[in-house]
Amino acid sequence: MNKEKTIDEPPGLQLSLPITPAAPRRISPPLKVAVLANLKKNVPLRPDAPPDDAVEYDREETVEAILESLRLVGHKPFFLEADVTLLDTIRKTKPEFCFNISEGLRGDARESHVPAILEMLGVPYSGSRVLANAISLEKVIAKRIWRDRGLPTVPFQLFHDPEAPLRSSLRFPLFVKPVREGSGKGVSPTSIVQNEADMRREARRIVQDYHQPALVESFLPGREFTVGIIGNPPTGRRRANPDLYSSDGFHYFPVLEIDPNVGAGQGVYGSEAKLIVPGAEGSPVYTCPASISCNLKKEMYRLTKSAAIAIGAEDCGRVDLRLDSEGHPYLLEINTLPGVNPDVSDLCIMAKAEGMQYSILINEILNLAYDRYGLPLEEKAPVLALAAA
Ligand SMILES: Nc1ncnc2c1ncn2[C@@H]1O[C@H](COP(=O)(O)OP(=O)(O)O)[C@@H](O)[C@H]1O
Ligand SMILES: [Mg+2]
Repeated sequence: MNKEKTIDEPPGLQLSLPITPAAPRRISPPLKVAVLANLKKNVPLRPDAPPDDAVEYDREETVEAILESLRLVGHKPFFLEADVTLLDTIRKTKPEFCFNISEGLRGDARESHVPAILEMLGVPYSGSRVLANAISLEKVIAKRIWRDRGLPTVPFQLFHDPEAPLRSSLRFPLFVKPVREGSGKGVSPTSIVQNEADMRREARRIVQDYHQPALVESFLPGREFTVGIIGNPPTGRRRANPDLYSSDGFHYFPVLEIDPNVGAGQGVYGSEAKLIVPGAEGSPVYTCPASISCNLKKEMYRLTKSAAIAIGAEDCGRVDLRLDSEGHPYLLEINTLPGVNPDVSDLCIMAKAEGMQYSILINEILNLAYDRYGLPLEEKAPVLALAAA
C-alpha cells in the first residue's frame, strides 16, 4: 500500500497520490444489480450501416468480468440486453440498481436511451445521466461548452453540407471526423487533410456513410494522451475506500500516452488501432504512466476534471487530449461511457498500471453511484472488505 503524499497543487486542484486498496470493498447492502449492455453479437445489422458500425459494442467477456466483479463482493448481478426488450425485462426482474455500459442502438443521442428509460422507471443506475451522455456523444456541443468555460479546444466548423463554404479562419492541416461517434469510428489516416479538396472528400464520406455532420477542426500534431477519472464532488457520506480519492472527491488514474505513429494507426488512434490488444502486432505503443513533466500532468488532470464537471459527467469518465506544436494540451473529447473491457480498454490499462484490480474499478463505479443517489447504508457493517484473491 502506498503512503499518501501530496503533489504540488495548482490552485483549485487538490491532488494526492492514491492509496490503492488490495481488494474491492462494498459500502452498500448487497444489491440485485442488472448489468446493462449492448452485446456485439446481438446488435442487429443495418443495411445502411458504415463498415465499422459494430466496434463500440461490448463483448461477452466484458459483461462476464463485470458480473464476476460484482459477485465477488456479494451483490447479486445479472445481465440484461439493452435493446427494446429492456422496458419489459426491467419490470420483470426488478433490479435494485443498474450498472450501465449501454452504447445505444440508434439515433442522435443513443447513449442516453437507457438512462432515459431507467429514469422513467425510477431505477437508479451508475454513470452519467441523460444529458451528459448526449453531450459527450455530440462532440461539437461538448466543445462549445468547454470554449464557453475557457477550456482549450481547437477551432472547428460543423459541416451538415460537405459543400458549404469553409471558414477562412480555419488553417490546414485540418482533421475531419464524425460529430457523434466513438471508438475511433470513421477516423483513419485520411482524416488528416492538407487541402480543401481532401477536406471535402472526407466530409462527404462522413455525411454519406455515417448519416451525420462532419466535424472539421485544426489538426493537433503533438503527443496524444488520455486521462481517466472516477469520482464525484464529495457528498459528505462515508466512502468504501476514502483513501482512494483526493479531497476534491476524484481519483486520477496515471496518464496514458498512446503513440499511434507505431502500428496500424499511422498517426491516428482510429477504430482499427483501438481494437488491437496492447502489445499485439500492429498495436500503438501505450505508455502508462506517461513520461511527462509534473506541470503537464497537473494541467491535464485539471482540464479533465473541468471538462467532466462542465458537461455534468458522473462517477467515471475518460478525456482524450493532444498537444499542439508548442506542447500545450487541448481537449479532443470526453467519454462518459469509457470502455471497460479488462484487456483492451484504456481505463482498464490505466487501472492495471496503477496496480488497481479490475474488480475494484467496477465496484468503485457502483459505490460512487450509490453514494450519489444517497441510498441507505447498512448500519451494522457499512463496509464489506474482501481479502485479495
Ligand atoms: N484535432 C485532431 N488532431 C489530431 N488528431 C485528432 C484530432 N481529433 C481526433 N484525432 C485523432 O482521432 C482519434 C479519435 O478522435 P476522438 O475525437 O478521440 O474520437 P473517438 O470518439 O472516435 O475516440 C484521436 O484519438 C486522435 O488520434
Ligand atoms: Mg477518443
